[in-house]
Amino acid sequence: MKKECVLVSGGAGYIGSHTAVALVEAGFDVVIADNLSNSDMNAVEGVRRITGRDIPFVNVDCCDTEAFARLFEQYDFGSVIHFAAFKAVGESVAEPMKYYRNNLLSFMNVIELMRRYGRRNIVFSSSATVYGEADTLPVTEQTPRKPATSPYGNTKQMCEDILRDACKAYDNLQGIALRYFNPIGAHPSALIGELPRGVPQNLVPFITQTAAGIRECLSIFGDDYPTPDGSCLRDYIDVTDLAKAHVVAIKRMVEGGCKESYEIFNIGTGNGVSVFELVRGFERVNNLKLNYRVTPRRAGDVPAVWADTSLANTELGWRAERTLDETLASAWAWEKHIRNI
Ligand code: NAD
Ligand code: WQD
Repeated sequence: MKKECVLVSGGAGYIGSHTAVALVEAGFDVVIADNLSNSDMNAVEGVRRITGRDIPFVNVDCCDTEAFARLFEQYDFGSVIHFAAFKAVGESVAEPMKYYRNNLLSFMNVIELMRRYGRRNIVFSSSATVYGEADTLPVTEQTPRKPATSPYGNTKQMCEDILRDACKAYDNLQGIALRYFNPIGAHPSALIGELPRGVPQNLVPFITQTAAGIRECLSIFGDDYPTPDGSCLRDYIDVTDLAKAHVVAIKRMVEGGCKESYEIFNIGTGNGVSVFELVRGFERVNNLKLNYRVTPRRAGDVPAVWADTSLANTELGWRAERTLDETLASAWAWEKHIRNI
C-alpha cells in the first residue's frame, strides 16, 4: 500500500510539532506548512531531530490562496491536519477581525484547495471552548454548544459548521473535528514544547516560567468557585497523547472507518483537575516551591469543564495514557531546556 502523506498546517506550532512526530512514528509521510507567525524553525528542527527524518517544511500563509495552491501542486498528500490558527482568547476580543480573517480564511482555503486538488481527509483542531459553560458535566459531543464568548471561540464554532456543511455537500470530502480540552506538557526528549510569546495566558506555561524565575508570582484566578477547593476545574490533556489522537483520526479516515462524513470527538482525559491540584502536583513532581497568590476571578472563565471521552475510547480506540505527573515533569524539563537551566 502507498504510504499516506499528511499535510500538517501549523506544524511548527505547539500541537502541530508533536503531531508531526507522532505521524512519522506511526509510519506516515509528513509535510509541514507554517508561516511562523507564532512559532520558529527550532520546532521544525526539533521534529527532524526526534524523528531522524528530513521532513519537508514550507513557509506559507494558508490565507494566501495562490501560494498555498502551489503547495498542493508540489506535494501529493491525501490528508490534511489543520492546526494553523491564532489562539489567544483575550487578543481575539481586542482584535476580532485579525482572528476572523486568519482562522476562517485559512480554513476555507484548505477546504477549497482540497476540493480543487482532490484530497479527501481533513482533521480540524477544535476546542472545548465551543461548549462554553455547559449545563451538565462531563460534556459529551452531544452537549449543546453555547454561544461563543470570544471571537476566537466563535471561529472554532464557525469552522466546525463550515466543515460539517462541506462534508455533507462534497462527496469526496470527509472530516473529523477533534475538540481538545487543555493541552499541556512536552515531548519526553524536551526538544519540542510550548513556546508562548510574551506573557503566557495559559496556566502551565505561566507556572513553568514562574518556576524558572521569569515571572515573579503566579496568580490563581479565584478560589471562590463552586468547586471542591474553590478553584476552576479543567481537563488537562498531555500533548503527546493529543498528538496520537490525530494519528488514529487519520487512520480511521484512510482505512474507511468513518461512520459519517463528518465526525466530532472530545479529546481529554475525562478528569477534572483544579488549579490548586495542578500547582501542588507541579511542586511535588518537580520538587520545588512555586510563588503564587490567589487573585480575583479572570473574566470569561467557566468554573468547570471536563470531557466525557467514551466516544473517542470506543470509536477511535484512543485514550490518554500519560499520567498528570509525567506531563508536569515534561513541562518543567522543556522549560529548563529552553532556558538552559
Ligand atoms: P500554535 O500557535 O503553537 O500553533 C499554530 C501554528 O499555526 C503556529 O505555528 C503559527 O505560526 C501557525 N499559523 C497561524 N496562522 C497561520 C497561517 N495563516 N498560515 C500558516 N501558518 C499559520 O498553537 P497550538 O497550541 O499548537 O494550537 C494549534 C491549533 O489547536 C489551533 O488551531 C488552536 O486554536 C487549536 N487549539 C489549541 C488549544 C491550546 O490550548 N493550545 C486548545 C484547543 C484548540
Ligand atoms: C486554566 C485554568 C484559569 C492562568 C484556554 C482557552 C481554550 C483552550 C485552552 C484553545 C483556568 C487558571 C490560568 C493563570 C490561573 N484554547 N489560570 N492563572 O482558560 O481553560 O482554556 O486554553 O482553544 O479555548 O480558553 O486555559 O490555561 O488559560 O486556564 O489561575 O495565570 O487556570 O483561571 O481556571 P482555559 P488556561
